[in-house]
Amino acid sequence: MKKRLLRVSSFLREVQLNWKTTGAIFPSSSRLAKKMAKPLTEFLSDRKPKRILEVGAGTGVMTEEIVKHTDKNDTIVLYELSDSFANLLRDRIENEWSDRNIELRVQPFPKGLNKEKKFDFAVCSLPFNNFPYNIVKECLEAFEDVLRDGGYLTFFEYCYIRRAKINLRINKDCMRLRRIESQIQSYMKTRKISRETVALNIPPAWVHTLRIE
Ligand SMILES: C[S@@+](CC[C@H](N)C(=O)[O-])C[C@H]1O[C@@H](n2cnc3c(N)ncnc32)[C@H](O)[C@@H]1O
Repeated sequence: MKKRLLRVSSFLREVQLNWKTTGAIFPSSSRLAKKMAKPLTEFLSDRKPKRILEVGAGTGVMTEEIVKHTDKNDTIVLYELSDSFANLLRDRIENEWSDRNIELRVQPFPKGLNKEKKFDFAVCSLPFNNFPYNIVKECLEAFEDVLRDGGYLTFFEYCYIRRAKINLRINKDCMRLRRIESQIQSYMKTRKISRETVALNIPPAWVHTLRIE
């Protein structure tokens, strides 16, 4: 419990220091993490070794859920940009998840994704609404490249936020958000399996599940 509170307080500190890249007011809830990791139990529950990519791991809320549904034969690659989150994750890898095969990359996704073995599943927590349009495009294309045929991608976004900012024109950045909206919509058009709402999260969120063909 004490550790959890420490993680929440480091998250809040990071939000104040780096709002653009954190893009959240609170770490994701365990409900949201469960939905994000659902393809592991729903579509990838066989015993074959799997490769899982988690992007924007933060304090490890989603990682915890991924670890629950995988074992030492699976490979988990984490991307995290923030040094302070990376220190926290390193500590968790060494102490809580030491029997697992977890690689931490402290660099901006998709940097460092060269010719490596394809992943079966990717979990993305990147705050796309805060990114330049071309970076969103680059990230979505990278998931397409790095996932095997029949691989899965989950990502979340806070309910109605982008639409509200566009419609109410409360953001001078309207054009950028419109382009992000249409980029995400067209990416999901042929790949989306489901959109589930997680009310128990601050703020409530939609989890999108996609299958890459
Ligand atoms: C919305 S927070 C999500 C954190 C955590 N997964 C959760 O759900 O509580 C976004 C995370 O993405 C990280 N991030 C932002 N841009 C990134 C990038 N280009 N590559 C890797 N991580 C990035 C931030 O540092 C932050 O930890």
